[in-house]
Amino acid sequence: MKDFYTLADLQHWDAAQAGNESPIQLGVIGDPVAHSRSPQMMNAALQHCGLKMQYARFQIALDESEAALRLMASAGFVGVNLTVPHKISAIPLMHELDDSARQSGAVNCVRFERERLVGGNTDGPGFARAIRSEFSAELRDLRVLLLGAGGGAGRAIARQCAREGCRRLVLANRTLEKAERLADELQPFFGEEQLEAVPWNEARLRSQIAHTDLIVNATSIGMRRSDAAVLPAKMLGSHLLVYDTVYAPGRTSLLDAVAEVGARGANGLSMLLHQGALAFEKWFERDAPLEVMRPALQF
Ligand code: ATR
Repeated sequence: MKDFYTLADLQHWDAAQAGNESPIQLGVIGDPVAHSRSPQMMNAALQHCGLKMQYARFQIALDESEAALRLMASAGFVGVNLTVPHKISAIPLMHELDDSARQSGAVNCVRFERERLVGGNTDGPGFARAIRSEFSAELRDLRVLLLGAGGGAGRAIARQCAREGCRRLVLANRTLEKAERLADELQPFFGEEQLEAVPWNEARLRSQIAHTDLIVNATSIGMRRSDAAVLPAKMLGSHLLVYDTVYAPGRTSLLDAVAEVGARGANGLSMLLHQGALAFEKWFERDAPLEVMRPALQF
C-alpha cells in the first residue's frame, strides 16, 4: 500500500491497487493528509475483526472531492473519513445527513450505500466519549471554558457541549466575532447566564477560570514543541480538568503547566480514537475494538 493515493489513482483504481494484499475500501480524504494516523488505528481494527479490507490516505484537493467520492462509491468503498479542508464543503455532496452532521454543518465520516452518500459527524460525540474515558465525567455536569471556539474542532466541541446541556459554556477566541457568532447560534440551548463569548485576554480568562471545571484547548497552539503554553501555570488551579485537543507532541506545554499545578490533563489522542471508533461503528454496525486501536495510535 502507498503512503497516500490521489484522484488519478482513483481514476485507474484497479491498476493503482493491484498487488495489495486485501482491497482498499476505506480511507481518509484530506489536503494535507500525509500526517494522518487514522490508517494505523483503522487497519488494526479491521485486522482484529477479520474484515478483509484496508484503510488508506487520499491526497485530494477541495475541488477534487466530488469526483473522488463518486469514484469511491462506484469502486465499492464502505466509507471514508473527511478531514481539513473537506468537512464543511462536503455537506451539499451528501444524499443524506444524520443528525450530528446536520446540526454541526460539517461531515467527517461518510458511509456509502451503493451510490448513495450518507454523511455523519463523529467529532463532537468522540469528544464527549473522550471526556468520559479520561476524566470519568459527563459534560452535563461541567462548566466548560473553550479556547479556540473559532476553528472546526472548537465549533464541534461547542455544539456537543450544547447538545449535552453542559452547566455553563464560555467561548474564548482570538477573533472575538467568531465566538460571538457561535454563541448566538447556540443560545437556544442555554439559559440566560449559562453561555458567554469572551475576548482572549488574561484578565477575562483568569476571572472565568475561577468558575470553570473543564478547560478545552481547541486552538492549534502546542502543535510545535517551541509553542508556549496556551495558558501559563500561574493561571491554572489544581481543581481543573484540562483537555488539549492537540496530540502531537504527546505532552504539550499546556499539559506541562497542568502537571505543574497538580491539575488533571489529557491530550487529544482519545478524541481521535473515539471519533474513529464511532465511524467504525457506523460502517460496520458493531463495536469498535478500542483495545487494539488505542495502542496503534501511540508514537
Ligand atoms: P480550522 O480548525 O478551521 O482549520 P485553524 O485556523 O486551525 O482553524 O484555527 C483553529 C483555532 O485556533 C481558531 O479558533 C484560531 O483563532 P482565530 O479564529 O482567531 O483564527 C485559533 N488560533 C490559532 N492560532 C492562534 C494563536 N496564536 N492564538 C490564539 N488563537 C489561535
